[in-house]
Amino acid sequence: MDKENHTKVFIISAKIIIKGIMKSEIDKIKRIVDNIDGWLADVEGEFLYNAARNCTGKGVIVEIGSWKGKSTIWLGKGSKAGNKVEVYAIDPHTGSSEHQKEGPVWTFEEFKINIKNAKIDDIVVPIVKTSADAAKNFKKPVELIFIDGAHEYEMVKLDFELWFPKLVEGGFIAFHDTCWGQEPARVVKEFVFTSRNFRNIGIVGSITFAQKVKQNSIKDMIRNRYLLLLKMFRDFLGLYLPEPIKLAVKKIISPKKSKK
Ligand SMILES: C[S@@+](CC[C@H](N)C(=O)[O-])C[C@H]1O[C@@H](n2cnc3c(N)ncnc32)[C@H](O)[C@@H]1O
Repeated sequence: MDKENHTKVFIISAKIIIKGIMKSEIDKIKRIVDNIDGWLADVEGEFLYNAARNCTGKGVIVEIGSWKGKSTIWLGKGSKAGNKVEVYAIDPHTGSSEHQKEGPVWTFEEFKINIKNAKIDDIVVPIVKTSADAAKNFKKPVELIFIDGAHEYEMVKLDFELWFPKLVEGGFIAFHDTCWGQEPARVVKEFVFTSRNFRNIGIVGSITFAQKVKQNSIKDMIRNRYLLLLKMFRDFLGLYLPEPIKLAVKKIISPKKSKK
């Protein structure tokens, strides 16, 4: 399978939360974020936009790790196009360990300017703290959380453990940099793909996302494991499951058509 088709496999479940993209709006946002330093790909930004746009307001949107606002802008714009759910942007703005190697970091001033220029300062609430400090006093339910803070395994695991309890049932969690052996990949493997609390897992670019449920069905569980297997093939072996095997698995996990 070529890379393009392979990506399709991984964004199949994104359909659940993508209700249609307004192309001109997306193009405008691309032009804004193009000039902002960061690592988020446009396809990942579009996913965040749609996920935020589909939030109903039963909880707020939280972002762990904002840097200079690239992902915050996608989330904020999506929310504004939807139900105007507040976006809490949590970051100490002193950079992660890899950024600090080159000297002291302070990104808050640039973040504020970018958020204001993007005209989302009425909906974005910056919290200049670490995820752990912010979680202590954060009492609001969360409908969508995007985790892109410190990338070490223990730190991503901590973010998950602190914020998962605040996520409402039916809400979505998304992690950045979860592919190709990156440390967050281990967290999603251990706490998302193999958990009974998630369904509708999908992958867009390097983002893995999933919907929280009280307990997933056996079919969800099989589907999650199947996606994990595909992901591991892609990430570590650069191989793809042969088409006949995928078709056979698809038959097992697809809903049975009712007889007339
Ligand atoms: C990869 S950057 C985020 C990129 C951003 N999401 C974007 O799209 O441009 C990681 C950010 O996480 C922040 N960070 C590091 N440790 C953190 C922690 N414990 N809690 C919250 N943010 C943290 C850093 O200051 C840095 O700005």
